[in-house]
Amino acid sequence: MFAPSTYVERRQTLMKKIGSGLILLPGNTFSPNNYPNNAYYFRQDSTFRYFFGLNNPTLVGLIDADAGVSMLFGDDFTVEDIIWTGPQPTLRELGAEVGVTQTYPFAAVAECLRRAVDQGRRIHFLPPYRGETKIQLQEWLGLTPMMVQECRSVELMFAVAEMREKKSEEEIVEMEKAFQLGYQMHTLAMKMCRPGVVEREIAGAVEGIAKGYGQGVSFPTIVSQHGETLHNLNCDGVLEAGRLLLVDGGAETVSGYCSDHTRTYPVSGRFSDRQRDIYNIVLKAHDDVAAMVAPGMMYQEVHLAAYRSLAEGLIGVGLLKGTVDQIIESGAMTMLMPHGLGHGLGMDVHDCEAMGERSYDFSTLLDQAARSATCVHRATWRLEPGTVLTDEPGIYFIPALIDKCRAEGKYAGLVNYDLLADYYDFGGIRIEDDLLVTPTGNRMLGGEQHIPITVEELEAVVGK
Ligand code: GLY
Ligand code: MN
Repeated sequence: MFAPSTYVERRQTLMKKIGSGLILLPGNTFSPNNYPNNAYYFRQDSTFRYFFGLNNPTLVGLIDADAGVSMLFGDDFTVEDIIWTGPQPTLRELGAEVGVTQTYPFAAVAECLRRAVDQGRRIHFLPPYRGETKIQLQEWLGLTPMMVQECRSVELMFAVAEMREKKSEEEIVEMEKAFQLGYQMHTLAMKMCRPGVVEREIAGAVEGIAKGYGQGVSFPTIVSQHGETLHNLNCDGVLEAGRLLLVDGGAETVSGYCSDHTRTYPVSGRFSDRQRDIYNIVLKAHDDVAAMVAPGMMYQEVHLAAYRSLAEGLIGVGLLKGTVDQIIESGAMTMLMPHGLGHGLGMDVHDCEAMGERSYDFSTLLDQAARSATCVHRATWRLEPGTVLTDEPGIYFIPALIDKCRAEGKYAGLVNYDLLADYYDFGGIRIEDDLLVTPTGNRMLGGEQHIPITVEELEAVVGK
């Protein structure tokens, strides 16, 4: 947790941006696994944590932008609770840690909101992503489930995303700690990688580092010889010489900041010629992006640059034909890299995407998104100093997708489908690092230290 002044200043900035009304920021509750006292590991809502700092369940933050005050709602622990949890700080003590003096019992938030609704005051809230929060909002504000979606505050979404995306110096220090966890995770996976090992053994060991030295993983670790499946969570495969292993993993620090890295390397520790060729095409795209990212650029430009770099490389090995412009124009790259180049990173691994990037139609907001330079809509996201984004190009040979495109006659004359057929057992390659946009360009998190990435570096460490 940072000093109380950090949270006080953040809330003041938010009030200024929003101007008037109440800003409702519910924290998360425990989510039961099979019954209430056996809950999933607690994960705080990142926006609540950003403005109110606390990593405790069942708290609600409320900011009155007109009166300029912040309030915290929650219940002090009873003796019955303490039997199970041990002594806990009071709500007043928790509030003091983050510069909030107005603290109230949890039930009071409902009264406070009802009064505000009766008075016709605007209540700003973000689109909820958890069932518990959706139900709370319905009850507190007297909304139907559909109205909860419709009444989300677009002003608050933009204001929060603008603030959370631009990392301060003290946040960058935490992001560097997250990098260190990622470094340990990935170098351990490389050392463990050899024929006969089960993917699950590597996933477990890697997640142990995230849990042992941080809060846990920033998302379920992907350890798979089927790298062509973008988010392959099946890790029952037994490692076989001749195949590639893709490991996509990251950690959250105890303070709640995330890393996200991917490496792909041969199980045997030696790249075949064909694997090396494709690997170096992806690595060049990764390096091209890292060389070009600078403040003021649009995410879409960077994404397109990665596609261009990959297309050039694939023409070189004969898998694509024609010119780079023709290939980009045709959309053929979406068959071989069916995802965006990267995403924001911070207190969430897809930072600020809880604002609803995938859940809402943003077509009516595109202009606003482009002007505001936030990640609320990725295609209109302008990179600014303090933005952290992942640089994660890939090439994936997905037989079902390639077959479908071929059958539909797509990209005719631009894709060498006959040659591609030889790659159906290849898998996929993704390489991912985390870039911080600086006032003059960017730098990779980790600084001088980097996770082994070149063919030579990987061959020197895998299985050793
Ligand atoms: N590393 C997981 C993702 O970017 O979606
Ligand atoms: Mn990622």
